[in-house]
Amino acid sequence: MPAETLPPDVRDALEASRADRGAFGEPLYFYPAIGSTNDAAARLAEAGAPEGTTVVAEEQTAGRGRSGRSWFSAPGAGLYVSVIIRPDAASTVPGGSFRKMGSGTEFHILPSEIGLLTLAAGVALATAVREATGLQPNIKWPNDLLCGHRKLAGILAEASATGAGLDAIVVGFGINVRQVAYPADLADRATSIEAELGRPIDRGLLLARALARLSAVREALRRGETAAVLDQWRRLAPSAAGRPVSWTGTAGERRGITAGIDQDGALLVDTDGARERIIAGEVIWR
Ligand code: BTN
Repeated sequence: MPAETLPPDVRDALEASRADRGAFGEPLYFYPAIGSTNDAAARLAEAGAPEGTTVVAEEQTAGRGRSGRSWFSAPGAGLYVSVIIRPDAASTVPGGSFRKMGSGTEFHILPSEIGLLTLAAGVALATAVREATGLQPNIKWPNDLLCGHRKLAGILAEASATGAGLDAIVVGFGINVRQVAYPADLADRATSIEAELGRPIDRGLLLARALARLSAVREALRRGETAAVLDQWRRLAPSAAGRPVSWTGTAGERRGITAGIDQDGALLVDTDGARERIIAGEVIWR
């Protein structure tokens, strides 16, 4: 499906933010409806599209979430965006492995640079939501944005790997913008920016801030400012320390108290007498 002309609100906000965004959003492909923006971005990456290339859709008919879930992507309800990031030539994936998800590849193990990028994307998105709307979502490990217990936004980072090399990372994010009738299984768990604020927001500005913040954290990681990005993440994620959680380990359900993240972005959890390191999957707040 060919990309279409940008809606005026998105076009104006992108023009106004050109200096803040670096290469992010350049070029930007806009689709009224598409299967998954992550798939479209992965195809562009395979065809050689540069870092910063962005795909935005008004609706996704096959939006994907983490862990094989679908992502509710009704027309006009949210922002559905995917951005191509090119790993540095020197990047390796020590101990990393990937799990095929649809046409992309979801990170199964958090190899340090990629894991850090997914946390950094959470920092970027949380900051962008605050800047564009005044709302202050918290991050739930690894990178869900929540208001209270309800999910506002999610991030799906997928790798495009050919042979031994990691060619591209597609960072896809979905932000619930407008209050809509959610499917029954989401009704108690999802929220939107406009439901939280009780007023309409400028989604073009939100997109522009998200691209600007993604560009900023990408450059920070490239400059080696990992510790600063992780500190930002910790400030935005109060539940990462001192919160009772459960998760499914190899031996079934485990419970413990969160004890922060390590330098690779893994979640630390204190259980009976031991500290565990969670590198993938879902934790449930207790
Ligand atoms: C999650 O499960 O929290 C991650 C949700 C990610 C959804 C976004 S919407 C844009 C991009 N395209 C997709 O198919 N998924 C991501």
